[in-house]
Amino acid sequence: MPQKPNPLSSIKVNGPIPAHLARSVIEKTLRAAILDGRIPCGTALRQQDLADLFGVSRMPVREALRQLEAQALLNVIAHKGAVVAPLVQGDAVETYALRILLESEALRLSVPLLTHEDFEQAAGYIDELETEHDYTEIGRLNRLFHMAMYCKAPNRRLLRLVEDGLNEEERFLRFNLEAMGLGKLSQEDHRALLRAVEDRDVERAVKLLEHHLNRGVEVITNYLNSPEAQSRKTSK
Ligand code: NI
Repeated sequence: MPQKPNPLSSIKVNGPIPAHLARSVIEKTLRAAILDGRIPCGTALRQQDLADLFGVSRMPVREALRQLEAQALLNVIAHKGAVVAPLVQGDAVETYALRILLESEALRLSVPLLTHEDFEQAAGYIDELETEHDYTEIGRLNRLFHMAMYCKAPNRRLLRLVEDGLNEEERFLRFNLEAMGLGKLSQEDHRALLRAVEDRDVERAVKLLEHHLNRGVEVITNYLNSPEAQSRKTSK
């Protein structure tokens, strides 16, 4: 019988890790490997395997896994431990419905407090998106643009939830954007949204954001139901 390749074998550890850096090194390394697909969805990560791999005790491993769980990259499942989360958790429609609630509220709170520098930064991300062709970068810039719109919302817990949603989307886009082809369409949304925000027109901005996210859910739902997406689901 052919042996399944061990996903952890793709991870290279360069020499001993100083104890005080262990947690962050493990977290960063695993995060990168989950995001670029070297450790596929559904992989169970055993604390002892990771401790052996990184040459550390289980304590920093446990802490790193907890961080990744908080970023919605891992789910802790009874009897299985930490398992790499699926690309879209649950139902895409429900996920986006929640994101619309959370992001509209963050936008409402943030718009009156945004500064000229925030506008410039957001415009910079749009410009970068214009010329970027690497899907990994596109996902990252989309997240940064959105966060730039919400960043002044004083409710930090709300912002954390918003960022979890954007992280989840970024990971999904990284694997599927090429097949979905969303590019130019969302650029126009982004520009219109930024204009409304610059005018401090909260209601118009919220409407445009809802429209933008609803279009996202439409494209993703159509895509997930397409034969092409079905055939890509092998690594679930
Ligand atoms: Ni967007």
